[in-house]
Amino acid sequence: MKSIEGIGLAEVVSLYSGMQGEFMQLVFGQQLHIGGMKASLDLAERASIGSGQKGIDLCCCNGAGMRCLVRFRDVASMVGVDATEAVVERGRRMCREEGLAHRISILHSDACQTGLESTSADFVWGEDAWCYVADKPKLIEEAVRLVHPRGVIAFTDWVEGPAGLSDTEAQRFLGMMTLPNVQDVSGYRDYLGKTAAKFLLPKTQVDFRLTSICTSK
Ligand SMILES: C[S@@+](CC[C@H](N)C(=O)[O-])C[C@H]1O[C@@H](n2cnc3c(N)ncnc32)[C@H](O)[C@@H]1O
Repeated sequence: MKSIEGIGLAEVVSLYSGMQGEFMQLVFGQQLHIGGMKASLDLAERASIGSGQKGIDLCCCNGAGMRCLVRFRDVASMVGVDATEAVVERGRRMCREEGLAHRISILHSDACQTGLESTSADFVWGEDAWCYVADKPKLIEEAVRLVHPRGVIAFTDWVEGPAGLSDTEAQRFLGMMTLPNVQDVSGYRDYLGKTAAKFLLPKTQVDFRLTSICTSK
Protein backbone atom coordinates (compact mmCIF):
# COMPACT_ATOMS: atom_id res chain seq x y z
CA MET A 1 0.00 0.00 0.00
CA LYS A 2 1.34 3.43 -0.95
CA SER A 3 1.27 6.05 1.83
CA ILE A 4 2.19 9.66 2.43
CA GLU A 5 3.40 11.40 5.58
CA GLY A 6 1.53 14.27 7.17
CA ILE A 7 -2.05 13.45 6.14
CA GLY A 8 -4.46 12.18 8.75
CA LEU A 9 -8.02 12.69 9.87
CA ALA A 10 -7.39 16.34 10.87
CA GLU A 11 -6.25 17.23 7.35
CA VAL A 12 -9.21 15.41 5.76
CA VAL A 13 -11.68 17.15 8.07
CA SER A 14 -10.06 20.49 7.27
CA LEU A 15 -10.43 19.76 3.52
CA TYR A 16 -14.14 18.95 3.81
CA SER A 17 -14.80 21.83 6.21
CA GLY A 18 -13.35 24.45 3.90
CA MET A 19 -13.61 26.05 0.48
CA GLN A 20 -12.18 23.04 -1.35
CA GLY A 21 -14.92 20.83 0.07
CA GLU A 22 -17.57 23.31 -1.03
CA PHE A 23 -15.93 23.55 -4.45
CA MET A 24 -16.06 19.75 -4.84
CA GLN A 25 -19.75 19.86 -4.11
CA LEU A 26 -20.24 22.56 -6.75
CA VAL A 27 -18.41 20.46 -9.32
CA PHE A 28 -19.79 17.01 -8.44
CA GLY A 29 -23.21 17.94 -7.07
CA GLN A 30 -24.57 16.36 -3.90
CA GLN A 31 -22.84 13.01 -4.41
CA LEU A 32 -19.05 13.21 -4.22
CA HIS A 33 -18.15 10.09 -6.11
CA ILE A 34 -17.55 9.03 -9.67
CA GLY A 35 -20.68 8.04 -11.54
CA GLY A 36 -23.13 9.92 -9.28
CA MET A 37 -26.54 8.44 -8.72
CA LYS A 38 -26.16 5.89 -11.51
CA ALA A 39 -23.15 4.38 -9.74
CA SER A 40 -25.08 4.25 -6.44
CA LEU A 41 -28.04 2.49 -8.02
CA ASP A 42 -25.73 0.10 -9.84
CA LEU A 43 -23.96 -0.85 -6.61
CA ALA A 44 -27.29 -1.23 -4.80
CA GLU A 45 -28.59 -3.51 -7.54
CA ARG A 46 -25.53 -5.73 -7.45
CA ALA A 47 -25.62 -5.94 -3.67
CA SER A 48 -29.39 -6.64 -3.63
CA ILE A 49 -30.01 -3.65 -1.41
CA GLY A 50 -33.66 -2.76 -1.28
CA SER A 51 -37.05 -2.68 0.30
CA GLY A 52 -37.32 -2.62 4.07
CA GLN A 53 -33.60 -2.93 4.78
CA LYS A 54 -31.59 -0.92 7.31
CA GLY A 55 -28.18 0.41 6.30
CA ILE A 56 -25.15 2.25 7.63
CA ASP A 57 -23.13 4.56 5.36
CA LEU A 58 -19.56 4.93 6.61
CA CYS A 59 -18.09 8.32 5.56
CA CYS A 60 -21.45 9.48 4.24
CA CYS A 61 -20.53 13.17 3.71
CA ASN A 62 -23.81 15.12 3.32
CA GLY A 63 -25.82 11.87 3.10
CA ALA A 64 -26.76 12.08 -0.58
CA GLY A 65 -26.10 8.36 -1.09
CA MET A 66 -28.49 7.53 1.73
CA ARG A 67 -31.21 9.81 0.35
CA CYS A 68 -30.79 8.05 -2.99
CA LEU A 69 -31.17 4.57 -1.43
CA VAL A 70 -34.20 5.56 0.63
CA ARG A 71 -35.92 7.21 -2.35
CA PHE A 72 -35.06 4.90 -5.20
CA ARG A 73 -34.40 1.52 -3.51
CA ASP A 74 -37.04 1.85 -0.80
CA VAL A 75 -34.49 1.26 1.95
CA ALA A 76 -36.35 1.62 5.27
CA SER A 77 -33.79 3.61 7.22
CA MET A 78 -30.17 4.59 7.26
CA VAL A 79 -27.59 5.89 9.68
CA GLY A 80 -24.69 7.82 8.20
CA VAL A 81 -21.37 8.43 9.91
CA ASP A 82 -19.00 11.24 9.07
CA ALA A 83 -16.13 12.93 10.87
CA THR A 84 -16.60 16.43 9.38
CA GLU A 85 -19.07 18.49 11.36
CA ALA A 86 -19.78 20.90 8.50
CA VAL A 87 -20.96 18.16 6.13
CA VAL A 88 -22.90 16.42 8.91
CA GLU A 89 -24.80 19.64 9.62
CA ARG A 90 -25.45 20.21 5.91
CA GLY A 91 -26.63 16.62 5.53
CA ARG A 92 -29.02 16.84 8.46
CA ARG A 93 -30.45 20.06 7.05
CA MET A 94 -30.92 18.51 3.60
CA CYS A 95 -32.66 15.46 5.08
CA ARG A 96 -35.03 17.74 6.99
CA GLU A 97 -35.70 19.90 3.91
CA GLU A 98 -36.38 16.84 1.79
CA GLY A 99 -38.70 15.27 4.38
CA LEU A 100 -36.41 12.31 5.02
CA ALA A 101 -35.18 13.07 8.53
CA HIS A 102 -37.44 10.40 10.04
CA ARG A 103 -35.65 7.73 7.99
CA ILE A 104 -32.09 9.05 7.89
CA SER A 105 -29.89 10.14 10.77
CA ILE A 106 -26.29 11.28 10.61
CA LEU A 107 -23.76 10.71 13.36
CA HIS A 108 -20.72 12.95 13.77
CA SER A 109 -18.03 10.36 14.48
CA ASP A 110 -14.94 8.55 13.25
CA ALA A 111 -16.11 5.70 11.01
CA CYS A 112 -13.53 3.39 12.61
CA GLN A 113 -15.23 3.68 15.99
CA THR A 114 -18.89 4.51 15.57
CA GLY A 115 -20.31 3.23 18.85
CA LEU A 116 -23.30 1.90 16.88
CA GLU A 117 -24.84 -1.42 17.88
CA SER A 118 -23.17 -4.59 16.56
CA THR A 119 -24.96 -6.53 13.80
CA SER A 120 -27.54 -3.74 13.57
CA ALA A 121 -27.39 -3.23 9.79
CA ASP A 122 -28.57 -5.31 6.85
CA PHE A 123 -25.84 -3.60 4.87
CA VAL A 124 -22.85 -1.33 5.31
CA TRP A 125 -22.27 1.13 2.50
CA GLY A 126 -19.37 3.29 1.35
CA GLU A 127 -18.75 5.27 -1.83
CA ASP A 128 -15.32 6.53 -2.85
CA ALA A 129 -14.57 7.56 0.72
CA TRP A 130 -12.68 4.82 2.53
CA CYS A 131 -9.50 5.95 0.75
CA TYR A 132 -9.52 8.90 3.20
CA VAL A 133 -9.25 6.61 6.22
CA ALA A 134 -5.69 5.92 7.36
CA ASP A 135 -6.47 2.80 9.39
CA LYS A 136 -8.27 0.72 6.80
CA PRO A 137 -8.11 -2.60 8.71
CA LYS A 138 -9.88 -0.91 11.63
CA LEU A 139 -12.52 0.53 9.30
CA ILE A 140 -13.19 -2.88 7.74
CA GLU A 141 -13.38 -4.45 11.22
CA GLU A 142 -15.97 -1.85 12.18
CA ALA A 143 -17.97 -2.52 9.01
CA VAL A 144 -17.95 -6.26 9.72
CA ARG A 145 -18.94 -5.66 13.35
CA LEU A 146 -21.91 -3.54 12.30
CA VAL A 147 -23.36 -5.74 9.60
CA HIS A 148 -25.79 -8.56 10.28
CA PRO A 149 -24.24 -12.06 9.85
CA ARG A 150 -26.12 -12.50 6.58
CA GLY A 151 -25.68 -8.88 5.58
CA VAL A 152 -23.65 -7.19 2.88
CA ILE A 153 -20.78 -4.74 2.84
CA ALA A 154 -20.99 -2.84 -0.45
CA PHE A 155 -18.47 -0.19 -1.29
CA THR A 156 -16.58 1.57 -4.04
CA ASP A 157 -13.20 3.11 -3.53
CA TRP A 158 -10.17 4.58 -5.21
CA VAL A 159 -7.46 1.93 -5.37
CA GLU A 160 -4.09 1.51 -7.00
CA GLY A 161 -4.64 -0.22 -10.33
CA PRO A 162 -2.68 -3.14 -11.74
CA ALA A 163 -0.30 -0.84 -13.63
CA GLY A 164 0.87 0.48 -10.25
CA LEU A 165 2.09 3.92 -9.28
CA SER A 166 5.72 4.93 -9.03
CA ASP A 167 6.67 6.44 -5.66
CA THR A 168 6.71 9.90 -7.23
CA GLU A 169 3.29 9.41 -8.82
CA ALA A 170 1.90 8.07 -5.54
CA GLN A 171 3.17 11.06 -3.55
CA ARG A 172 1.66 13.46 -6.10
CA PHE A 173 -1.67 11.61 -6.24
CA LEU A 174 -2.03 11.19 -2.47
CA GLY A 175 -1.00 14.78 -1.76
CA MET A 176 -3.35 16.21 -4.39
CA MET A 177 -6.28 14.10 -3.13
CA THR A 178 -5.46 14.52 0.59
CA LEU A 179 -5.38 10.74 1.07
CA PRO A 180 -3.19 9.17 3.78
CA ASN A 181 -2.74 6.04 1.68
CA VAL A 182 -4.26 4.12 -1.22
CA GLN A 183 -5.06 0.41 -1.07
CA ASP A 184 -5.21 -2.06 -3.95
CA VAL A 185 -7.66 -4.86 -4.66
CA SER A 186 -5.59 -7.60 -3.08
CA GLY A 187 -5.02 -5.46 0.02
CA TYR A 188 -8.75 -5.07 0.52
CA ARG A 189 -9.18 -8.76 -0.23
CA ASP A 190 -6.73 -9.57 2.59
CA TYR A 191 -8.56 -7.39 5.12
CA LEU A 192 -11.90 -8.86 4.17
CA GLY A 193 -10.53 -12.38 4.06
CA LYS A 194 -9.49 -12.07 7.70
CA THR A 195 -12.92 -11.05 8.89
CA ALA A 196 -15.35 -12.42 6.32
CA ALA A 197 -15.69 -16.03 5.32
CA LYS A 198 -17.11 -15.28 1.90
CA PHE A 199 -16.76 -12.33 -0.37
CA LEU A 200 -16.97 -11.36 -3.99
CA LEU A 201 -14.67 -8.84 -5.59
CA PRO A 202 -14.07 -7.08 -7.81
CA LYS A 203 -17.06 -6.79 -10.07
CA THR A 204 -15.55 -4.12 -12.24
CA GLN A 205 -12.23 -2.48 -12.11
CA VAL A 206 -10.70 0.39 -13.99
CA ASP A 207 -7.24 1.78 -13.59
CA PHE A 208 -7.44 3.39 -10.16
CA ARG A 209 -10.91 2.63 -9.05
CA LEU A 210 -12.43 -0.46 -7.50
CA THR A 211 -16.04 -1.41 -7.34
CA SER A 212 -16.59 -4.29 -5.03
CA ILE A 213 -19.34 -6.08 -3.21
CA CYS A 214 -18.49 -8.09 -0.17
CA THR A 215 -20.71 -10.39 1.81
CA SER A 216 -19.64 -10.78 5.36
CA LYS A 217 -19.66 -13.99 7.42
C1 LIG B 1 -15.53 11.76 -0.84
S1 LIG B 1 -16.44 12.19 0.59
C2 LIG B 1 -17.69 10.94 0.68
C3 LIG B 1 -18.62 10.98 -0.46
C4 LIG B 1 -19.89 10.26 -0.22
N1 LIG B 1 -19.68 8.86 0.11
C5 LIG B 1 -20.72 10.36 -1.50
O1 LIG B 1 -20.75 9.37 -2.23
O2 LIG B 1 -21.26 11.42 -1.76
C6 LIG B 1 -15.38 11.64 1.88
C7 LIG B 1 -15.99 11.83 3.27
O3 LIG B 1 -15.29 10.96 4.15
C8 LIG B 1 -15.29 11.58 5.42
N2 LIG B 1 -14.27 10.91 6.25
C9 LIG B 1 -12.96 10.76 5.98
N3 LIG B 1 -12.37 10.06 6.95
C10 LIG B 1 -13.33 9.73 7.85
C11 LIG B 1 -13.34 8.98 9.06
N4 LIG B 1 -12.24 8.42 9.56
N5 LIG B 1 -14.52 8.82 9.69
C12 LIG B 1 -15.66 9.39 9.20
N6 LIG B 1 -15.70 10.11 8.07
C13 LIG B 1 -14.55 10.27 7.40
C14 LIG B 1 -15.02 13.03 5.11
O4 LIG B 1 -15.40 13.87 6.18
C15 LIG B 1 -15.86 13.23 3.84
O5 LIG B 1 -17.12 13.74 4.15
